[in-house]
Amino acid sequence: MPDVGLRTQVEADEQVLYRVWSELDTWEQRMSAPPAPLSLAEFRERAASGALTGNADFVITLDGEAVGRCTLFHEDGLARSAEVGIALVPEARGYGVGTAALTQLVQFGFLRRNLRRLHLAVLASNPAAIASYRKVGFVEEGRRREHCWVRGRYEDDVLMGLLRPEWAAR
Ligand SMILES: CC(C)(COP(=O)(O)OP(=O)(O)OC[C@H]1O[C@@H](n2cnc3c(N)ncnc32)[C@H](O)[C@@H]1OP(=O)(O)O)[C@@H](O)C(=O)NCCC(=O)NCCS
Repeated sequence: MPDVGLRTQVEADEQVLYRVWSELDTWEQRMSAPPAPLSLAEFRERAASGALTGNADFVITLDGEAVGRCTLFHEDGLARSAEVGIALVPEARGYGVGTAALTQLVQFGFLRRNLRRLHLAVLASNPAAIASYRKVGFVEEGRRREHCWVRGRYEDDVLMGLLRPEWAAR
């Protein structure tokens, strides 16, 4: 099992977070905004304005080194739900780090923030992410057919969700 942790962002994380946010190869997997090169200056501007901030933002660590970020965002205080986002630097992918981090983020959402439902949208062509979400307990709730424009073709967006009672029963 990899030694994966979640912690607060600090200034020294900027380079890793900039790499994650600006990676063009995975842009459409991570964001609905049109792909475009993101300069360090623009990244800093958006970070300072709060445009990159969710309700609970964590840096993901592997053996103590920052390797990515995960967040709860679009929190609905009335329905007690939030959306989940996660991304790692390329060299940390495929070793169980994402699943371990998501497991901790889900626990934080349900136990610390008293959320009742977590949800996310993932491109149908992202099997590693879908497999990871399933392992944590998320189930497919529907699809937005041909909702996303991804490198020359339309693609389905898979909607997944996890309810606190389902998570607690696991
Ligand atoms: C999505 C992401 C966070 C997952 O983290 P990760 O550490 O790479 O994922 P894990 O290694 O924990 O789990 C991936 C699972 O998918 C499986 N998988 C990988 N490629 C697969 C494929 N082509 N088909 C089916 N399953 C696949 C792996 O085997 C693994 O399952 P296993 O542990 O049972 O073997 C990470 O890959 C990432 O940052 N990707 C780029 C950004 C992104 O896509 N973010 C998600 C936006 S919705």
